[in-house]
Order: sequence, then structure tokens, then C-alpha cells
Amino acid sequence: MLPDAGQANARPAAPRQESLAGRAGGTEGINDIMLSPLVHPSAERAELLAECRRLRVKNDFLEGCCAQLQAALRAGEEARLLALQAQKLEAIGQLTGGIAHDVNNLLTVLRGGLHLLPGAVEPARRERLIGRMEGAVSRGAEMTRRLLAFARRQLLQPEPIDLADRAEALATLLTGCLGPRIAVELRFAGDLWPIAADRAALLLSLQNIAENARAAMADGGRFLVTAANRPLFPQGAGKLGLAAGAYVEIACSDTGTGMTPEVLARAFEPFFTTRPVGQGSGLGLPQVHGFAAQSGGAARLESAIGVGTTVILLLPRAAGACGAAGASA
Ligand SMILES: Nc1ncnc2c1ncn2[C@@H]1O[C@H](COP(=O)(O)OP(=O)(O)OP(=O)(O)O)[C@@H](O)[C@H]1O
Ligand SMILES: [Mg+2]
Repeated sequence: MLPDAGQANARPAAPRQESLAGRAGGTEGINDIMLSPLVHPSAERAELLAECRRLRVKNDFLEGCCAQLQAALRAGEEARLLALQAQKLEAIGQLTGGIAHDVNNLLTVLRGGLHLLPGAVEPARRERLIGRMEGAVSRGAEMTRRLLAFARRQLLQPEPIDLADRAEALATLLTGCLGPRIAVELRFAGDLWPIAADRAALLLSLQNIAENARAAMADGGRFLVTAANRPLFPQGAGKLGLAAGAYVEIACSDTGTGMTPEVLARAFEPFFTTRPVGQGSGLGLPQVHGFAAQSGGAARLESAIGVGTTVILLLPRAAGACGAAGASA
């Protein structure tokens, strides 16, 4: 509780002669005042003394307030750091648990296959077992690829890509991912800058986004991809944790179920999934996030229940013209 100024004012009167100069913590104004009955033997002096006492009391009061505020701020900062630490530990726990769970599933398939293989004389049965084991190995490789993408440790080879030039090929790819019940529409600005990105990782990101959109639009819907130039000035770039410069914004919107605020807040977390067991690993959006960040851009989500979801990628503009590699996207 803060000290009570009223109570503090009720302190007993101080001795007639005093020096406030040496009092620890006294305010600057008061410290400089030296009072002596020899110098001021009048009523004015008594009034001055009383005023000084009042000032000292107020000063004590303010110092008390400051100390308590500082203590409260320190306590608040400590609580914030503790909460942050707890969040970090929870995320690490989630990640570790997710990896352990997936690796365990793969090992179970491999262990079972290795155990049964020597006794499987029938060629068809041997083939089935080997096929299952190969599938497990591929899933393991895919998992590590996406984890590396999330950790921004994938090997990326950025090259200039002209999206507008490749709109048709992209539309074909997305239609393949989304199926016949979802209408795919691409709206790219005519003067769209080329982006600097790894072609394979960009396509994988768009596939991951499209797969999520398909799951969210089980009864069909619309998938719209827009792309526009986005110059970022220092203030706007700073808010996104990016350097100021030229970017292209790619927004992929679906008209699906949308996400609750709780799901939206966690959707980029590795191994976070709301899908039934065996139907999602929770590594699609982390790959998208890692790819954008490692490319020098950013990814963010907007979503509303019953309205749909938009995944927004900001990717840096490529310097110079597009080469043949970009044209083959
Ligand atoms: N377009 C979307 N609409 C509604 N919910 C979505 C959408 N995209 C992602 N989500 C939610 O975010 C979660 C995480 O998505 P993410 O792509 O990372 O993993 P996943 O789809 O569950 O599994 P994986 O992609 O590894 O197969 C999803 O389980 C889903 O709940
Ligand atoms: Mg997914």
C-alpha cells in the first residue's frame, strides 16, 4: 500500500534548529536550505521551518511511492519473464512430444516389418511389408524436411520468379490440390515484381496452404490467390520484423470453416493440429512460416469462423530480371 500523505503530515514538530542539507534522499531544493535561529529570529523563520517540515514530509511520502512503484514494476517484469519462460518450455515440450510420437510411429512400422520379413516367404507379402517400410522411411524424411523448414535450416536456393508469368501453371497445380468442388481464382497485378525465392519451397508452401483450404472446404468453396507489390517503409517494415524494402504480398484466401482465435494463435506451432489422429502432423503451416522467414519475408494468418482463412506471404522482390529457372515454376 502507498503511504498516506495525510498521516505523514501529522508528524510531530521538528526541533527549532535544523539542517536539511545532509539528509539522505532529500530533494534538491530542500537540501540547499540551511536554517538557523541566529540568522532568522522572526515569525517568518518559524513559518519557513514549518514549510520545510511539510515539504520534507511530502518528500518522504513521494519517495515511498516511488520505491513501491519501482518494486511493483520489478515484480511485474519478473512475472512477465516467468510467463515467457513457461510458454517457451511448453512449446519445447510440444515439439519434443510431437517428434517423439511421430518417430515412434515410424519405428513401430519398421520394427514390425523387420520382424516379419524373414518369415514372409510369399513374394506378394514380402513386397507389401517392404512397401510399408519404405512408406515409413519417406514419411520420416518428409517430417525432417518440414522440421528443418520450420527451424529455417533448409537448403534454399532463391532465384527470381515471375508469378504473373506462371499464373497458368500455378492455377493447374492448385486445382490439382483442391479438387473439382473448389473454384480456383488467381488475381495478379499486371506490373507485379518478380520475387526472390526457392521455387520448390514456394510450391510446397502453396501446396500446404491449399491442402488446408481443401480440408476447410469439405463441401466446396472458392480459393483465391492475389499477388501485389508491397513497398515497405521503415515503420511498417519494423512492425512486421522485416527490413524496409520492396516485397510482393501473396494472399491465399479460402471460404472454409475458419479458425477459432485459439487455433489461429497456435496454427504456426509445429505439431499443432486439430485433425483426427493419423490425418495431420501439424507441420504444414510451420513449413510455410519457416520458408517465408528464411526467404527474408514473413507469413501471417487471418481467419474468422464461418468466413474463411487467408494466409499472407510477404516475399522480397528479386533484383534484376527473371531467369529461365523462374520461368519454369
Ligand atoms: N485454411 C484453414 N482453415 C481452417 N483451419 C486451418 C486452415 N489452415 C490451417 N488450419 C488449422 O491449423 C492447424 C495446423 O495446420 P497445419 O497445416 O500446420 O497442420 P495440419 O494441416 O493439421 O497437418 P499437416 O499439414 O501436417 O498434414 C490445422 O490442424 C487446422 O486446425
Ligand atoms: Mg496442413
